[in-house]
Amino acid sequence: MPNSATASARFPDGFLWGAATAAHQIEGSPLADGAGPSIWTRFAHTPGMIVNGDTGDIACDHYHRWKQDVALMRELGLKAYRFSTSWSRILPEGTGRVNQAGLDFYSRLVDELLENGIEPLLTLYHWDLPAALDDRGGWLNRDIAQWFAEYGDVLYRALDGRVKKWVTLNEPWVVTDGGYLHGALAPGHRSKYETPIATHNLMRAHGAAVQAYRATGKHEIGLVVNIEPKYPASDSADDAAAVKRAHAYMNEQYLDAALLGRYPPELKDIFGDAWPQWPQEDFDLIRQKLDFIGINYYTRSVTKAAQSYPLDAAVVKQPLGTYTETGWEVFPQGLVDLLVWAKDRYGNIPTYITENGAAFFDPPVAEGGRIRDPLRIDYLQKHLGAIRQAIAAGCDIRGYMVWSLLDNMEWSLGYSKRFGIVHVNYGTQERTPKDSAHYYSKIVASNGASLGEPLPY
Ligand code: BGC
Repeated sequence: MPNSATASARFPDGFLWGAATAAHQIEGSPLADGAGPSIWTRFAHTPGMIVNGDTGDIACDHYHRWKQDVALMRELGLKAYRFSTSWSRILPEGTGRVNQAGLDFYSRLVDELLENGIEPLLTLYHWDLPAALDDRGGWLNRDIAQWFAEYGDVLYRALDGRVKKWVTLNEPWVVTDGGYLHGALAPGHRSKYETPIATHNLMRAHGAAVQAYRATGKHEIGLVVNIEPKYPASDSADDAAAVKRAHAYMNEQYLDAALLGRYPPELKDIFGDAWPQWPQEDFDLIRQKLDFIGINYYTRSVTKAAQSYPLDAAVVKQPLGTYTETGWEVFPQGLVDLLVWAKDRYGNIPTYITENGAAFFDPPVAEGGRIRDPLRIDYLQKHLGAIRQAIAAGCDIRGYMVWSLLDNMEWSLGYSKRFGIVHVNYGTQERTPKDSAHYYSKIVASNGASLGEPLPY
C-alpha cells in the first residue's frame, strides 16, 4: 500500500526522464533540401495569424544545430528526447515521392541521440500537415487515414531498428478545436460541421498508422492526448452538466475512441445536427491495441454553465490562483486526479507524461550566464511531486518529458512566450540553460530523489 515513505522515495527504476519539442516549433528552414510546405508554413505567412508576424522560418535553427542540441541534452543528463518529424520534409506532397534528404535529417538525429545515450521518442504528427494534403481536404478527407499510414510506414521502415517508442498524433483535440472549430491554429477554419469530421479522420488515421506499425514495427506505439481536468464552479446542477460536457469534449473524446471504440454521448448534445452517424467499422479501425498512452498536462479549468459556442460552458478564473504567462492556472493536484481518472476509466495502461511545463517571464541573462526562473522550478517541483503521488496511488507512469527543451515558436503566439528550460537568444541562437534546467538535471541524475531537497530559492 502507498504510504508517505514510498511517496517520498525515488521514482521507479528505469523511469524515463526527458524533454520534448516539436518539428515546426524548433527546426526552422521548413523548405530546405526539397521539403514541401506545411499548413504551418502557410498559416504563419498569412498576415495577422501569428503574434508579431512571427514565422517558423528560422525558429531555433535546430535544423542546423541539432548536434549542438543533442550535446546540450547530454550535458543535462537527459535519458530521453521526444521530438516530432515533419511530414512534408519526408513526403513533400504528403504521399508518394519520398524526399531522402528529409528522412536523412531525422536518421542522423536519431543516430546522434543514441550515440549520446538518449532514447528517442518519435511523434509522427505534431500539427504540421503537408500543405499539399490540405489542398486535398486535409483532415476532412477520409483518404487521410491511408495517407497517414503510408507516411508512418516510410518512417517505421527507416527508423524502427533504432526508435523504440512511437507516437501517432500529438493532441488531436488541439488540432480540431484550434484548427477547425475556433480557427486560431492552422488551417484556421471555423466550422462546427467540420470539427467532428476532422476529429473522426484523425482517429481513423491514428488507427491506420497503428495497424501499419504492427505489420512492420517491432517496438511500441501509442497516442498522445492533452487532458485538462474540469472542476465545477459551484454545486449547481447546471455547472455539473457544463463540467460533463467540457470533460467529454476535451478529455474523453479521443481516449474513448482509441481505447473503448466509441465517443462519449455528450458530443451529440454539443454538436447537435453537426454530429454525424459513423459506421461501426470505423471504430474497429480506430480501436487498436496501444502499448502506452502519453498525457500532456498543463492546467485544469474550473467550469461553469454559460452561453458559449458550442459547449455552453466557461472557465472561471480563480482569484487566489497562480497563473502562468499563457494564463493557465498552476494546479498540480489536477495531474494526480487525471492520472487516477485515466487508470480507472481505461485500465492501467503504461503512461508517459509526454509534456508538462510552463511559460513564465524570464529575466535577461545575468552576469555569468545565469537565468533565474524560480517560478518554473516551483512548477516542475510541484508537478513531479504530483506524479509521485499518482505512482503511489498505483498508476503505471513510466516517464516524464518536460515541455520544452528550448524556448520555441509557441504556435500563434510566436516567440512571445517562453516554455524552455533552456533559453534561446533568437538574435544569436545562443542557448543558455536556465536555473530550471540545472534543477531538472539534478532530479534526473538522482532519479527524483533530489525532489525532496529545499528549492534553490
Ligand atoms: C503542445 C505544444 C505547445 C504546448 C504549450 C501543447 O499543447 O503540444 O506544441 O507548445 O502545449 O502551449
